[in-house]
Amino acid sequence: MPSDEFVVTPWHVEGEIDYEKLIKRFGTEKITPELLKKIVRITGEAHFMLRRGIFFSHRDLGRLLDDYEKGKKFFLYTGRGPSGHTHIGHLVPWVFARWLQEKFDTTLYFQLTDDEKFYAKQNLSMEQTKQFAYENALDFVALGFRPEKTKIIIDTQNIKTLYPLAAQVAKKINFSNTKAVFGFTGETNVGMIFYTSLQSAPCFIENRPVLIPLGVDQDPHFRITRDVAPKIGRPKPALIHNIMIPSLSGPGGKMSASEESGTIYTTDSPEAVKRKINKYAFSGGQPTADEHRRLGGNPDIDVPYQYLRIFFEPDDKKLRQIYDDYKSGRLLTGELKAILIEKVTEFLKSHQQKREKAKDRLEKFFFEDR
Ligand code: TRP
Repeated sequence: MPSDEFVVTPWHVEGEIDYEKLIKRFGTEKITPELLKKIVRITGEAHFMLRRGIFFSHRDLGRLLDDYEKGKKFFLYTGRGPSGHTHIGHLVPWVFARWLQEKFDTTLYFQLTDDEKFYAKQNLSMEQTKQFAYENALDFVALGFRPEKTKIIIDTQNIKTLYPLAAQVAKKINFSNTKAVFGFTGETNVGMIFYTSLQSAPCFIENRPVLIPLGVDQDPHFRITRDVAPKIGRPKPALIHNIMIPSLSGPGGKMSASEESGTIYTTDSPEAVKRKINKYAFSGGQPTADEHRRLGGNPDIDVPYQYLRIFFEPDDKKLRQIYDDYKSGRLLTGELKAILIEKVTEFLKSHQQKREKAKDRLEKFFFEDR
């Protein structure tokens, strides 16, 4: 990989991502100020993740919203590959999905792909991916979705519903196509090769258009789904993409559930949060406090600042103040970390309570095959 290059695929993210370049590479569209205005006109507000470009790109969102204004309703779909415990980066698209659900008052399907992670990870058994699916579902439910309008699909559990839809899709994907998109080789297991069909299936679970909020690394699957949709007489899914959440230890690569030190899990104790942020968080500060006061820090590469921007400080004024203070050197690295530690601890305290309560409510959310 040349030093100025980066890799973004559903199973591998590496290097420092240039999102302008990625938009070109993937052939998606940037969220323009005009599109943002349209969203505000319809929903009444610009979610901070939109204002700040955390959601930065889309496919067909403009058209979907135009149709919506003409009375054509859509539903929502997103998902998670249960390869480990939930970390705070996972919550970004889920929180946004909840906002969309509130604003558009519509059904949301959440797919947990225990089969995918079994295929993709050599070291995971099906029992483990199933267990993680359950664990991840608790975090999802804890975010406050409404059970009447929110359905959790687990691939191995709901295959009766998914399979006929997946088969429609599978028949229209040929091997050279999926090979070109994902770089599969002769050594790739055939589960992986079929898998895009299963991730496509929920797009067609209702007979109306769908909007999918998702990490941009998942776009290649739906590029295929969008090619297939007209061939099976279905509307193309519309997408809205979020950036990859950096791992605690620095830019280059998303936060990975399998890398303990660079990851804050939703079940972490206040002590663990404090230790991880103080020990591992990549800093844009100067080596000494003196130099920092003199030269100032760089919030644009500072991970604690980025976490505040992406998730933990929705108030623009407060965020701006932190940005300016850090850049000018008034705010020291330790102080910035302390702000984040407090925010994360506060968030997790309440999240963990809701997560406990979710254990009794989980059943209500599971999709039932008909
Ligand atoms: N493949 C995704 C992952 O590994 C999980 C997923 C399934 C998903 N369906 C989705 C993600 C729809 C976003 C949108 O995380």
